Amino acid sequence: MNSPIIIGNWKMNFNASESLVLARLITQSIIQQKIDSVEVIICPSFDALVHVGEILSAARISLGAQDVFWQEKGSYTGEISASMLRAAGCSYVIVGHSERRKYMRETDEDINKKIKTALDSGLVPILCVGETLEERREGHADLVLIRQVIHGLQGIQLKKGDRIIVAYEPVWVIGTGQGIDAESEKRAIQVIRQALIDLQPASQAISQTRIIYGGSVDETNIEDYISLPEVSGALVGTASLTHDSFIRLIKRIA
Ligand code: PGA
Repeated sequence: MNSPIIIGNWKMNFNASESLVLARLITQSIIQQKIDSVEVIICPSFDALVHVGEILSAARISLGAQDVFWQEKGSYTGEISASMLRAAGCSYVIVGHSERRKYMRETDEDINKKIKTALDSGLVPILCVGETLEERREGHADLVLIRQVIHGLQGIQLKKGDRIIVAYEPVWVIGTGQGIDAESEKRAIQVIRQALIDLQPASQAISQTRIIYGGSVDETNIEDYISLPEVSGALVGTASLTHDSFIRLIKRIA
């Protein structure tokens, strides 16, 4: 049985020294409380990656980045490559978060290129998919998920050892403290799983791709969200920003 995955996405909330303080607290708690049954991944901002990674390694917490560019090198001002992230100690990278789709106008095509680069460099991409409230109200939620999974992973042949995490994050739930009901979550996860099976041989789609849930996950609801057998963990924003709330959340499932 794989351990559940908990990913803390710190977004643009901390500078490097603030990130170090939080990383130290989380690392200490994981060690002291002997939490080893949960795969914890922390995604700080780029400036904090190297030093946060060094601290996290003491507790075997993995390091992830919040984005990557698809080119390897060159005149791409402001961007960061997959090999740079590897050199900074990352094993994971979030791709296609709804905030990037919204504010940076990232398209499924951009996201597809990022996922390919990430896999080629040995990073595990965390592909975020999810419908907006408008898309849901118009009855298009399933279509949006299918499009984002199929286009995001178009042309990708998973090699032995490659892994992908798909995070279902209903956009209208992120950062709101609202929840999604169990039936809607279940349906969305089934739609995503079927899209994955349509893309890859079924055995690969299941063994190399894990699906997690994200959107206002905290210590009070984590068990409900990951109780579906198909859901392998959670992508956590707000509740990962303080040591206490993050550790309490992890302990609920440890
Ligand atoms: P939230 O963020 O937990 O604050 O809803 C989740 C995310 O954006 O990944």
